[in-house]
Amino acid sequence: MNNSKRKHKVAVVTGAGGTLCSEMAIELSKQGIKVALLGRTLEKLRRIQKEIENQNGTAISVPIDVTDQNAVLEAGQKIKEELGSCTVLINGAGGNHFDAITSADFFEERELQKSSKEFNGYFNMDMRAFSRVLEINTMGTVIPSQVFGRTMASVGGGVIINIASMNSYRPLTRVAAYSMAKAGIENFTKWLAVYLAPTNIRVNAIAPGFFLNENSKKRLTMDNGELSQRGKNIISHTPQRKFGTPNQLIGCMNWLIDDESSDFLTGVTIPIDGGFSASSGV
Ligand SMILES: NC(=O)c1ccc[n+]([C@@H]2O[C@H](COP(=O)([O-])OP(=O)(O)OC[C@H]3O[C@@H](n4cnc5c(N)ncnc54)[C@H](OP(=O)(O)O)[C@@H]3O)[C@@H](O)[C@H]2O)c1
Repeated sequence: MNNSKRKHKVAVVTGAGGTLCSEMAIELSKQGIKVALLGRTLEKLRRIQKEIENQNGTAISVPIDVTDQNAVLEAGQKIKEELGSCTVLINGAGGNHFDAITSADFFEERELQKSSKEFNGYFNMDMRAFSRVLEINTMGTVIPSQVFGRTMASVGGGVIINIASMNSYRPLTRVAAYSMAKAGIENFTKWLAVYLAPTNIRVNAIAPGFFLNENSKKRLTMDNGELSQRGKNIISHTPQRKFGTPNQLIGCMNWLIDDESSDFLTGVTIPIDGGFSASSGV
């Protein structure tokens, strides 16, 4: 298949009810691409579906957990029947969990008390929470890539975009599981890009810096709207001194799905971060 002539008709976006990927799904639909919106909560997906339909686009909501292989396989079948074969996959589902975040940046004596409820350290952390964060942020990309990548391989190619993070390059304090998982995403992006090169599927990742979403808002800002200490730390380590906004990812997404301008680009992770990853802080 001649890559440069392909026009994408169907896209799958996971985490499509969320802050960053809802924007991407809406943008794809504006380009005439039919979009399958995946996530666990139907209402969140329906809201985006409605927005797309109000602008004369086509979208379907598919409420599933992307770590459930059978559910993703079934979703794949449904999407193929209702929309056609997808040639774009955005792996946006992911996130952290409070129980997998340590209460402080460094070890504290009190975490040696197993039952300590008020302090969540590495030594008294519930490893089920740790595993769950690993699973959603790694297998939640691996499984959809397998299912929808297979479709792309059978129709002659496609584009996969994974969502990495600043934690892919260097772990942030407190978030061991999420950091470990997002480092895995950068690594898997390279592996999959190499493996799928003969299939005409390009695999790249976007590594967003800090964008406020429902969860991070609670940790990075306070009730009065001012920044929390962690929020201040982040802004002071971001040379542009601001959080990102979802629309700032769109240009990169469009470039990555454009088979003409990014035909020779595969296996890379692109930071969009106001300079965070470039800065040593000194
Ligand atoms: N915001 C940032 O600053 C930032 C920075 C770097 C990377 N990222 C990454 O960018 C992606 C999108 O982040 P966001 O800020 O838009 O977060 P968000 O608003 O929380 O959106 C994430 C979406 O993923 C869905 N999801 C989570 N677990 C899922 C599962 N097991 N199966 C299916 N869907 C699942 C959630 O919907 P349900 O709960 O309804 O399933 C949610 O709508 C994530 O991978 C995140 O790790 C975000």
